[in-house]
Amino acid sequence: MAINRTSSHGEWSSRTAFILAATGSAVGLGNIWKFPYITGENGGGAFVLIYILCVIFIGIPIMLAEVYLGKRGRLNPIASIKYISEKENRSRNWQVIGLIGILAGILILSYYAVIAGWTMAYSVRTAFGTLNNIDAVGAATMFENLISDPERLLAWHTIFMIITTVVVARGVKSGLESAVVRLMPALLVLLLALVIFSSIEGKFYDGLRFMLYPDFSQVTWKTVLIAMGQAFFSLSLGMGALMVYGSYLSSDISIPQTCVIIALLDTIVALLAGLAIFPIVLSSGLEMTQGPGLIFQTLTVAFATMPGGQLFGTLFFILLIFAAWTSSISLIEPMIIWLIEKYNITRIRAATIAATFAWLIGIGTILSFNIGAEIKIFNMTIFELLDYLTSNILLPMGGIMITIFVGWLVAKENIDVELEIKSNILRFIWYFSARIIAPIAVIFVMLNALGLNLNIFS
Ligand code: TRP
Repeated sequence: MAINRTSSHGEWSSRTAFILAATGSAVGLGNIWKFPYITGENGGGAFVLIYILCVIFIGIPIMLAEVYLGKRGRLNPIASIKYISEKENRSRNWQVIGLIGILAGILILSYYAVIAGWTMAYSVRTAFGTLNNIDAVGAATMFENLISDPERLLAWHTIFMIITTVVVARGVKSGLESAVVRLMPALLVLLLALVIFSSIEGKFYDGLRFMLYPDFSQVTWKTVLIAMGQAFFSLSLGMGALMVYGSYLSSDISIPQTCVIIALLDTIVALLAGLAIFPIVLSSGLEMTQGPGLIFQTLTVAFATMPGGQLFGTLFFILLIFAAWTSSISLIEPMIIWLIEKYNITRIRAATIAATFAWLIGIGTILSFNIGAEIKIFNMTIFELLDYLTSNILLPMGGIMITIFVGWLVAKENIDVELEIKSNILRFIWYFSARIIAPIAVIFVMLNALGLNLNIFS
């Protein structure tokens, strides 16, 4: 029977270990770097509200579906889906979900590592006191200097990629479990401390208002697509990362409860990051809409004025590197497991191949902040294009196919034995969200935002 298969790659030692690893994947630059700046670019409260709705109605159902596929298939994303589609007498073409996912993971990692490199540069700067007494203008100049220097960006990008490769080459579970257990709580505490600081020193009320007051006049379908893409990105959905983590899950663990906890933790961290950032942006005269540099400039100003800011700032950036690192592991792991199972090569070799790919593509992102800034495809720089293509197209596409496959093509009784949702009402909500709400919402938003104006409401 399917549920008794075990993973040939070993299993998590407990439910907590899985929750931590999955939360380690979910919580990353997406929460602390990306969420504040795209909220800033998209007008605040309304965006946050749409984001939260996307997490609840689209994110959580897809997360359940994805972990389900992994836990049942017990193999790499492509092979797991192939196995399940054979068992369910469905077309093997659904394997393409796994392929898109592996590709999306490498593309995301390629620019993720570049941004993680900025975090590394900033932790060194803070540690050496370079940022002490800096003001908003100084912080902006310093950020400009960093991103306009391709050699420096390349060096940090390379270092980050090497660290990631070394860890995944040794296997995901051994180191990850024990590291996440200690560092995740530390990150949360530091984030809380930052929120307290910004409530005292920044314009807290205005920041809160910006984040919570929904002004729908600026909202377009594109805004909704970006919020939805961010939900996919932040929860690590749509590309098989959680499928792979789910495949290491022992059979007696309940998927639904676990997924809700992960989504909740991830959302709390993103909201806290916003609460820490916006009040300072408003009080320091920085721009909400400045894009990817937002947290680097804002936090620099905060740490410069805060008592003990040098120590505190250094710790914060180090924890952020760590958060990025546990996420990047889950971006590269699907490709590695696939290479190992398909070509029967060693983990070290697979990790090296996957990382080299991502590293090479990452050079495009590095150049798009300096000498290649003028290169535009569809009016976007290489970095913007990679981000748009992955978050707003590939991940949602993966998500649609995952919910349709699980919701409609896998026999209900097979899902029921695995998900074990006891309450009838909750089971109804799950099927309704996975079969109807999630796929329709994703398709609808994508069609509208990508140009096909359906004009249903007009
Ligand atoms: N969720 C991570 C973040 O918020 C990024 C990430 C890790 C990711 N694994 C993923 C995004 C898989 C999409 C798919 O930073």
